Amino acid sequence: MPTLFDTNKAGDLALANRIVMAPLTRNRSPNAIPTDIAQIYYGQRASAGLLITEATAVSHQGQGYADVPGLYGSEQLDGWKKVTHAVHEKGGKIVVQLWHVGRVSHTRLQPDGGKPVAPSAITAKTKTVLIEDGVPTFVETSEPRALTSEEIPGIVHTFAAAARNAVETAGFDGVEIHGANGYLLDQFLKNGSNQRIDDYGGSIQNRARLLLEITRAVTDAVGGGRTGIRLSPVTPANDMHDTDPQPLFEYVIKQLATLNLAYVHIIEGATGGPREIDDRPFDYAALKAAYRKAGGKGAWMVNNGYDQALAEKAVADGADLVAFGKPYIANPDLVERLRVSAPLNIPDKATFYGGREKGYTDYPALSN
Ligand code: PHB
Repeated sequence: MPTLFDTNKAGDLALANRIVMAPLTRNRSPNAIPTDIAQIYYGQRASAGLLITEATAVSHQGQGYADVPGLYGSEQLDGWKKVTHAVHEKGGKIVVQLWHVGRVSHTRLQPDGGKPVAPSAITAKTKTVLIEDGVPTFVETSEPRALTSEEIPGIVHTFAAAARNAVETAGFDGVEIHGANGYLLDQFLKNGSNQRIDDYGGSIQNRARLLLEITRAVTDAVGGGRTGIRLSPVTPANDMHDTDPQPLFEYVIKQLATLNLAYVHIIEGATGGPREIDDRPFDYAALKAAYRKAGGKGAWMVNNGYDQALAEKAVADGADLVAFGKPYIANPDLVERLRVSAPLNIPDKATFYGGREKGYTDYPALSN
């Protein structure tokens, strides 16, 4: 019987167990540069089978929150190099999440104070975080402008360049394409946010085109065996909706099956919230079956609200990897705690976003 503690493979990556640290935004990278304490934070968590970094902007335009890191400047890459080194020294594996927020941004975070970009000029009813005088402040996102068709190849190129920077320069074991949670690629996928009339809007095939072009470009840059992707079929996060998500995501997953990805990472339900949403049913087993039937061999990673019992059940039912979010904020040694069924530290919401060591690198491991 498979367990959470089995070694496992995700594409080219040999993993020590099936426990994954989910991407978690922490807003502790002023000027988009990971600091000295990021090395400690990720290093403390290196016993996970795989660490996925916090979402990391592929370009300045792709940034939507204060003090989130990037992958497009040399100082940013130098900061990340120290992080990957710290994790590798402890025998861990780490991939970076490639992020373009699209419309979930604010003019104050954009190059030259411009409008955020989106598939269509539809403002998301959601908030972002600015940091003013060191204090995180939630503000409404700004009205976006629709990307022109001519701008789209540049977006694809930006993802591929960030992936190359990540693996070749910063020393990451791979990358995860952020296709979830109402950010740019999810905005293109879903018809609540995409009303384009060009090749990138309308039909399912058209709405999936950008995500698939980017995934192909990233696999060309760093190899499918080093590329994962995160999807959230029904999350309402960031004002998202689609009138018919099942066929949309089954189309996407069948296309992804041909790209030899390391893994597919699925958020079940509402990100960070309920796993079941009454008016948004979704058949995840059918999604996985469609992927396997189409020849997809990547590891199947599940996420959202897992505790030990639910994770063990998921693995027994055939999930390859389970990603834990909030438990990883407060439990650097989550693998060991699950192994011995030790109680978990409780994360402190007040220190999730912004600040320094407090609530970041000071959660105790069991032996402390
Ligand atoms: C957030 O910063 O709130 C955030 C970032 C990335 C996600 C979800 C939430 O995927």
